[in-house]
Amino acid sequence: MKVVTVVGARPQFIKAAVFSRALAAQQISEVLIHTGQHYDRELSDVFFESLTLPRPAHQLGVGSAPHGQQTGRMLELLEPALQEEAPDWVVVFGDTNSTLAGALAAAKLGMPLAHVEAGLRSFDRSMPEELNRVLTDHAADLLFCPTQTAVDQLAKEGLGDRARLTGDIMYDALREQLPQAEQSDIVSRLELTAGQYALATVHRAANTDDADALGRILAAFSRLDETVVFPAHPRVRAAMQSAGLTVAENVRVIDPVGYVEMLALERSARVVLTDSGGVQKEAFLLGVPCVTLREETEWPETAAGGWNVLAGSDSDRIVEAAKRTAPAGEPPSVFGDGRAAECMVEFLRDDPSHGERRG
Ligand code: UD1
Ligand code: UDP
Repeated sequence: MKVVTVVGARPQFIKAAVFSRALAAQQISEVLIHTGQHYDRELSDVFFESLTLPRPAHQLGVGSAPHGQQTGRMLELLEPALQEEAPDWVVVFGDTNSTLAGALAAAKLGMPLAHVEAGLRSFDRSMPEELNRVLTDHAADLLFCPTQTAVDQLAKEGLGDRARLTGDIMYDALREQLPQAEQSDIVSRLELTAGQYALATVHRAANTDDADALGRILAAFSRLDETVVFPAHPRVRAAMQSAGLTVAENVRVIDPVGYVEMLALERSARVVLTDSGGVQKEAFLLGVPCVTLREETEWPETAAGGWNVLAGSDSDRIVEAAKRTAPAGEPPSVFGDGRAAECMVEFLRDDPSHGERRG
């Protein structure tokens, strides 16, 4: 059996690293295609190096562009690459433009397609990611769901027969890399004290393309009593610059960090503030209170017990949620057993449609 995995953005490299190891463990051959959606070293190469992800056999080098153009360019370059590789399965992750392009290219070529992180919904169609995930789910033959909520959602959309509950691959990644994160010295290198700082990330279009929203978020960070470490995605840095937005002295804007360093910063933070899907979930899994800088989440399970609070881009709500005391006890276990990738590989291997696309 031969699998082609299509990746392009930071969180996909993290997921693909775990998935690659699960394929290799079953002696299944894999070819990686990198669309080039993320290209800066700290958003791409660092993950290939530190997570020992195989080098992509195809680097499409698409780069940044408006949505239609970026997705269209990917599609044009993916088609011949997939034809050349002739895989038994094409696998895509998450909800980025690279996910949608990979899904469309495979579906148009009649190649069996599997979607990792299927069934997640924000129910906000103005979000580019919501369109990407809905369209990808409807194009795919196998839908790997991180949670029962996702399985139930797919059933409501008439996709129940393709859905498989696997657990969350990001939990696999976290479990795998946590021992290294525990050895990381990034907290002391940044002269931080465990339990006495906040960690923030912002990159969603709704927060970066709207200068007022971003201004309110940064004002909230500036109002917190502790240091706010802010590994800034290039998109938010550019947005801050073009809107002339600055932060108070307690906010430390740093370059994006590697995955192990990020886990290390998360586990020692008092609170996490983020609009990232992955970071919300990691905070929950690590038992760190989270403030989500959005009005909805695709991961409603993280709100259990008050671990994750939605605050949108409203300064007062963000500050209030950030200052709350941590919930007692541990967050419930809702993201599987940390062996999701293994489970996915078994489904791919055993699926009767393997090698032949469903009608
Ligand atoms: C993309 C995904 C988002 C995901 C995120 C992970 C879509 C629609 N969005 O958002 O779902 O959560 O990746 O991080 O696919 N840029 C650079 N260097 C890079 C890449 C991007 O400077 O290596 C800048 C460019 O100015 C670019 C902007 O960031 O225009 C946005 O990049 P893009 O890939 O379009 O979206 P993300 O915000 O990264
Ligand atoms: N991440 C990282 N370095 C950073 C910020 C995030 O390694 O500076 C990791 C984070 O730990 C998580 C993933 O990137 O595993 C989340 O990616 P991102 O926030 O870009 O996208 P999303 O999850 O929202 O799609």
